[in-house]
Amino acid sequence: MENNLKFESQKLAINYFTVAAILFGAQLLMGLIAAFQFLYPSFLFEIFDFSVARMVHINALVVWMLYAMIGSVYYLLPEETGIETVGIAIGKLAFWILTAAVTVVVLVYIIVQIGPATESTIWFINEGREYIEAPRWADIGIVVVVLVFVFNLFATAMKGRQTGIVTVLMADVLALAGLYLAGMFFTDNISMDQYWWWWVIHLWVEATWEVFVGCLLSYGLIKIIGARREVVEMWLWIEVAMLFGSGILGMGHHYFWIGTPEYWWEIGALFSALEPVPLIAMFVHVVYDWGKETGIHEGQGTSTEKMMTNSPAFAWFVTNAFGNFLGAGVWGFFHTLPQVNIYTHGTQFTSAHGHLAFFGAYATILIGMFYLGVQGKNGIKVMKATFDSKMAIFLITFGVLGMTVSLTIAGYGQVLVERAQMGATWEAFFVSQDMVWFVQGLGWRLATGVMTFIGFVYLIKDLLSTSKNARHLR
Ligand code: HEM
Ligand code: HEM
Ligand SMILES: [Fe+2]
Repeated sequence: MENNLKFESQKLAINYFTVAAILFGAQLLMGLIAAFQFLYPSFLFEIFDFSVARMVHINALVVWMLYAMIGSVYYLLPEETGIETVGIAIGKLAFWILTAAVTVVVLVYIIVQIGPATESTIWFINEGREYIEAPRWADIGIVVVVLVFVFNLFATAMKGRQTGIVTVLMADVLALAGLYLAGMFFTDNISMDQYWWWWVIHLWVEATWEVFVGCLLSYGLIKIIGARREVVEMWLWIEVAMLFGSGILGMGHHYFWIGTPEYWWEIGALFSALEPVPLIAMFVHVVYDWGKETGIHEGQGTSTEKMMTNSPAFAWFVTNAFGNFLGAGVWGFFHTLPQVNIYTHGTQFTSAHGHLAFFGAYATILIGMFYLGVQGKNGIKVMKATFDSKMAIFLITFGVLGMTVSLTIAGYGQVLVERAQMGATWEAFFVSQDMVWFVQGLGWRLATGVMTFIGFVYLIKDLLSTSKNARHLR
């Protein structure tokens, strides 16, 4: 396979995208095992327990997304700054170190699974913090690798052209990396531990990652439909201001019931309820730029279809605008007020939101970036949607939507019976687990999960076969 990329930085990006795609596949397989165990609890019991499958599922999720994000930065950086990434050699070394470390960590999760619950477990097996369970030795390694990445971004941006997109990225990546430190120390008070843990998880997904998505949207719209930079970057600044405004104090919605002071009820309710506002702005951003740009060029007799340089990427970018708004904005808003959350907290409703939000806000746009990478690698000017690419986006999107609806119904049952009717007792928990709504909901989740996985297979097939199809697409 020839490589048409001029910049080493973009070649490195393809490496990051490749590992990201592999981990995405692993994530889905683990999800299927866990979903199967919900219905057949004896499946792999004491061999590969639900807790292990679930842990690998959500850690793989976070890691593949971080890989795809680093890859995205290495991909867009030379185009934005006009120069090769500074420190690219050490950047490549860092990639291999990180990938070796991730491989060891995953093997330990899968083979060793649990430790004796002493300090040594935290150092060598896992830290027991949902989503970011990497043991401490790996944490330290991750910090070093990320420092290299942050250095490369800053050094390149300072030497080359500084666009608005790159300026926002610099501030954002610094915050994103810094927040990781909040999840690295251990306290044996569970409330305090959770308090800091939320700094990582919430301030990632509801602040720094969202700003990151804003940067990718801006870059992608300029690249795919030739949107005007002034328009796109104006939106980006508005979104940054709003996201940080609502996202930081919105963290209060995780402090309702963990033993933190009660003033978090009001703070969390107000600011988290405002969080959908920037998400609507992002949605408008895409649709507005889309309409505006196609309008401007109308006089020249070009249609949207003709102007678009990468149909599959654009389809995923548009899915991102809808998905972010629905998964984070709507499904998040549903349960964010303490008066509602007291009933929905920790039910399958939460899981419904978690799935649609992570998928809609992040998986979509990062898959879009995979497509931009494949286009660059194969030197294709205009990339048309293939049958496989259509199957992929259809099956994955409707698969995840199906899982979300199934989980919402299962969660609704829990809210009504376990919480409202039976008062959240121990017995109530088990009664609601046997409810027909709950069991059927989880059955449908498994079925739609399989649909998602088939979509993933189409996606990989499409990405890999692009080089073969490249000739007539060029
Ligand atoms: C893309 C952005 C977002 C992602 C990826 C995301 C993801 C998640 C995930 C995975 C959880 C479960 C955490 C756990 O394991 O305990 C969660 C919880 C929660 N999210 Fe989001 N979320 C996002 C945005 C939002 C927004 C904008 C809101 C509010 C408007 C929101 C409201 C909530 C609430 C209230 C909970 C707590 C649920 C409970 O009490 O069980 N989220 N979120
Ligand atoms: C093959 C498709 C999938 C299946 C069968 C599946 C299944 C599962 C299962 C069984 C859990 C544990 C839920 C629990 O503890 O009650 C889970 C958790 C989770 N999954 Fe998936 N999953 C799939 C795809 C995805 C995708 C595509 C994403 C996001 C991009 C995702 C994100 C998450 C998150 C964030 C959680 C934690 C939710 C929470 O704590 O509330 N999963 N998944
Ligand atoms: Fe949150």
